[in-house]
Amino acid sequence: MNLITTVSEMMAARERLPRPLGLVPTMGYLHEGHLTLARWARRDNQSVVTSIFVNPAQFGPSEDFASYPRDMERDLAMLRQEGVDTVFAPTVEEMYPQGFSTYVNVERVTDALEGARRPGHFRGVATVVTKLFTIVQPDRSYFGQKDGQQVAVIRRMTVDLALGTEIVVVPTVREADGLAMSSRNVYLTPAERQAAPMLYRALGRAREMYRDGVRDARALRQQVEGMIRAEPLATLDYVSVADAATLQELETVDRPAMVSLAVRFGRARLIDNVVIGQD
Ligand code: PAF
Repeated sequence: MNLITTVSEMMAARERLPRPLGLVPTMGYLHEGHLTLARWARRDNQSVVTSIFVNPAQFGPSEDFASYPRDMERDLAMLRQEGVDTVFAPTVEEMYPQGFSTYVNVERVTDALEGARRPGHFRGVATVVTKLFTIVQPDRSYFGQKDGQQVAVIRRMTVDLALGTEIVVVPTVREADGLAMSSRNVYLTPAERQAAPMLYRALGRAREMYRDGVRDARALRQQVEGMIRAEPLATLDYVSVADAATLQELETVDRPAMVSLAVRFGRARLIDNVVIGQD
């Protein structure tokens, strides 16, 4: 496995790698969710590049950029085991050289949910992902459904800017008790960890109601909110039932919809979602 830390070396390496080439962008501190992305990329492509870069541009001033968990040695060992060819792990100075002033702003789909609560977050995500696409020029790029709004933003910008990579969305990987895997789960205390699977139970209840014929989005929201408010360790941020592509809130679920939530458990702010109405 080849470890590359500069943009120029990565651009040279991409020319030598057999096609098709799959890109798995990550911020490291890998878990089974990331490894699943790498496995899908391995299965579909001749070459796999995984990027590891904790992107300062997508963290707000009061967010956890400095303390975000990092363990490069462990990440490299895990990726070697998955048969990844190339790891691209640039420094901040390499990705944001002196004088850096160009950003990608995706409008509308970033207005609500995470975009409304984390100003500048998606500008940072869209900018770094565009730059990774430019440097690596992947045929396919792999993202997890867990970050549902991120998926919608990246899909939109890939079409709008004709970025020429296929976006492959991989279902959320969960712990045995349903908690969505996330590098930030390390922030949970044992009691919070035990309570946190209720997020997926609440989303699952909304999905069941949809299957039972409920189409009133407000009824689905109220059900999920009620379950979360009943958990003393959880502080609800939002529950949304929105068009899966535009993320506009729905009154009636008459098209593919994302039921999503953000909930704080102590130091950890967890997000999760399920998609309904696509069958
Ligand atoms: O999902 C993530 O880990 C990040 O937002 C991404 C896509 C690697 C961009 O920094």
